[in-house]
Amino acid sequence: MHNGNASTFRDFIVMMERMSQTEELPTATPHEIHARFQDPTHESSTSAEWWRRSVIYQIYPRSFRDTTSNGIGDLPGITAELHHVADLGVDAVWLSPFFASPQKDAGYDVSDYRAVDPIFGNLQDFDDLITEANRLEVKILVDLVPNHCSDEHALFRQALVSPKGSAAREFFIFRDGRGEDGQLPPNNWLSHFGGSAWTRITEPDGTKGQYYLHLFDSSQPDFNWDNPAVGDEFESVLRFWLDRGAGGFRVDVAHALVKAPGLPDWNGRADGADSPGYPFADAPMFGQSAVHDVYRRWRAVCEEYDGERVLCAEANVHPIEAMADWVRPDEMHQSFNFPFLHTGWDGKALKAIITRSLKAFDAVGAPTTWVLSNHDVPRHATRLGAVAPSPRDGDGLGPDDIQPDLHLGLARARAATLFMLGLPGGAYLYQGEELGLGDNTMLDPEYRQDPSFARTNGERLGRDGCRVPLPWDSSSASLGFSDSEASWLPQPQEWASLTREAQTADPHSTLNFYKEALRLRSAHQLGLGDLNWLEDTNTSSLLGFENSEILVVLNLGTEPVVLPAGEVLLASSSSALDAATSALLNPNSAVWISLHHA
Ligand code: GLC
Repeated sequence: MHNGNASTFRDFIVMMERMSQTEELPTATPHEIHARFQDPTHESSTSAEWWRRSVIYQIYPRSFRDTTSNGIGDLPGITAELHHVADLGVDAVWLSPFFASPQKDAGYDVSDYRAVDPIFGNLQDFDDLITEANRLEVKILVDLVPNHCSDEHALFRQALVSPKGSAAREFFIFRDGRGEDGQLPPNNWLSHFGGSAWTRITEPDGTKGQYYLHLFDSSQPDFNWDNPAVGDEFESVLRFWLDRGAGGFRVDVAHALVKAPGLPDWNGRADGADSPGYPFADAPMFGQSAVHDVYRRWRAVCEEYDGERVLCAEANVHPIEAMADWVRPDEMHQSFNFPFLHTGWDGKALKAIITRSLKAFDAVGAPTTWVLSNHDVPRHATRLGAVAPSPRDGDGLGPDDIQPDLHLGLARARAATLFMLGLPGGAYLYQGEELGLGDNTMLDPEYRQDPSFARTNGERLGRDGCRVPLPWDSSSASLGFSDSEASWLPQPQEWASLTREAQTADPHSTLNFYKEALRLRSAHQLGLGDLNWLEDTNTSSLLGFENSEILVVLNLGTEPVVLPAGEVLLASSSSALDAATSALLNPNSAVWISLHHA
């Protein structure tokens, strides 16, 4: 054996040993964590109410499981596979809309709130799903869309053929245009999906007529919540699903129902994305105080039913302290924590938003919730794998963009999930994250269906990338999503090795990791616990807290850290801990350590 720098074989071995040591160990002394805590940020709740500590799993029906070979998921598919979701250990499922709809916004454009769209099945299929859910002890929450309906809803059709000023028009927000011939929209509001928030109609007599308001697509006219008949109609819809066994509702765009009197001009974008600071503070279409009366009425309706039926707000309001208004004791039970979702890979920022959230929700006696993915944002395995700044403000990636690092994304996603599931409060999961799925970032334009893509001429890519049908097994070309090869959006190639079947058999899979995390979360009642921040982890690269005698540590930095003594309950991956000692937590990793016997 010959080596230029090693004069003898022994020297060579010593040199190799040193080299391998320097590869395994950090060059600088690793940061050591001590189990010392700050004052409690949050004290435990003793309430038995299930929604204070719940884990709720979002099913996006069109992408869950297809039993009719048409490439679109359906309710019988959910019923058939629900046991897999129950196996994960969740309390409830939230179903994105499955109501009758022309599907211009993937079902968030409802044409009949009391009917199942034929692509998803029928009411009997819903009843069968409830029966199976009851058997599995999983609650089913329905997605209620009260801000707007579809332009094919009978009430809107009636409004179009009825005269200006008629009772039929009063169900919606019709106004005359501005300018001499009414050629300008009634105000300057913009649609969340791009373009004006107003569309002009042709009156029954053939003349150019009034405009109707739509904060979203022109196929989604906004209801007029100043009209008591709208409130009555929705109370009846609520009862319709509660009577059929729904465990409650996720309420779509829950901040927007009531608009400011006079509909004054506003210079922010409808989603507030271009306004710094507190984007919605003065928005005339968001957070109007009268909207809270709607939810007080709905809370009272839910309380008439047994089984603690719940309401969860999609209230995209800032700051988080304002969002807490949606979950005051006589309003909703939960609200999605979007500021948490939108905080990136930054320990300081995460600590700040978690502390603020707990304080804000504690102040009104409500649980804080946590969420990392849903059907409106790139999945967290994709976001956290970004190697370049998001080209479109987080609006999805396409084939021409710099692609995420899938390996890094998955490592961070699992770490972020483990960290999130250690937090007290409720948690939301989005179907497929338990398989470690990222977005399809290579979708060609012909597949894109999100209205924001067409309304902005492709400037915004939209949300299709995170809505791709799930991979179940290798039984068909659509990875078991459908018996046929049909899949309404194509699945990424790498999903062939990520099927639920493959992951069930692999003890290190993301699926088995999620199951174990949820089992431990429940066994240790972490959802109801305290939160005590570790004293020496207030940095961008390291975060730690204690909850119910479990230490949760997240390493967001580039160097390993030395963990305090204790029994490791779960690590975010098989390479999260230093193989030899288990005392070092590697970068992009998280761990739960029991302090009980330490
Ligand atoms: C909510 C839904 C989203 C939908 C929008 C309009 O934000 O989550 O998917 O497009 O409302 O209904």
